[in-house]
Amino acid sequence: MTYGHAALTNDRPPANLNHPREAKRRESEHSPTSTYDGTMFQPTYPIRTARLTLRPVTLDDLEDVYAYQRRPDVVRWMLGAGPRTREQSKASVIAMTGEDALREEGDCLTLAVTVDAGVIGTVELVWRSRSDRTAEIGYVFNPEHGGRGLATEAATALLDWGFNEFGLHRIYARCHGRNDASARLMARLGMRQEARHIESYLFNGEWADQLVFAVLAREWRSRTLSS
Ligand SMILES: CC(C)(COP(=O)(O)OP(=O)(O)OC[C@H]1O[C@@H](n2cnc3c(N)ncnc32)[C@H](O)[C@@H]1OP(=O)(O)O)[C@@H](O)C(=O)NCCC(=O)NCCS
Repeated sequence: MTYGHAALTNDRPPANLNHPREAKRRESEHSPTSTYDGTMFQPTYPIRTARLTLRPVTLDDLEDVYAYQRRPDVVRWMLGAGPRTREQSKASVIAMTGEDALREEGDCLTLAVTVDAGVIGTVELVWRSRSDRTAEIGYVFNPEHGGRGLATEAATALLDWGFNEFGLHRIYARCHGRNDASARLMARLGMRQEARHIESYLFNGEWADQLVFAVLAREWRSRTLSS
């Protein structure tokens, strides 16, 4: 591993921390930082936002995760996912506990999104390309906590970390063409719809459209500085 802080580029700081607007923003908002030990890159845990705490998934999260993974409405638009049994959720939670850092291209960073009542969902960042400094963001939330902007808030924190700390150039997201809530979330995050791939994949035996949204680091920074 040759990457340092920021992880994906050595020729610029992750953010203009001395800029007065940036300093003001960091005073008033969540400001995830990073830990880098020479082999892996991860946020400094926990990441706190106005209403949420984000941290790695633990085995103790099983009941909270199962509470939404078992729901048909949660997995409705997710490829290859049916409502999970408790055993399947357990396997999923075990897998997610290992996704606490990015070590190699292809790795997935999964964060449990928590409120006082427990885990309400997860956000994830898959490191798609080291050379292109590109990652894909994903999210799954318990509908019991939907409609309050909490998924937006959690994804914003992860995008902040991906761009300002990890040094990404581009973050994209994909969803089923009929997953309206996901498409609205991406648009709300300031991501641009770049594609609708018509009947590009088989979903439950039927051809499905796939939407692709993306945002660049410079766009993300200008958005957060101006808001
Ligand atoms: C995609 C998903 C996370 C979106 O959940 P959500 O509850 O709509 O998202 P948020 O928590 O950000 O809440 C946003 C909603 O709350 C409203 N809202 C209320 N207060 C808000 C606030 N302070 N900030 C932002 N939005 C707020 C918004 O208007 C929005 O409602 P709308 O979409 O009807 O306009 C959720 O539907 C989900 O987990 N789906 C199942 C898994 C899935 O499909 N994942 C994506 C796979 S590609």
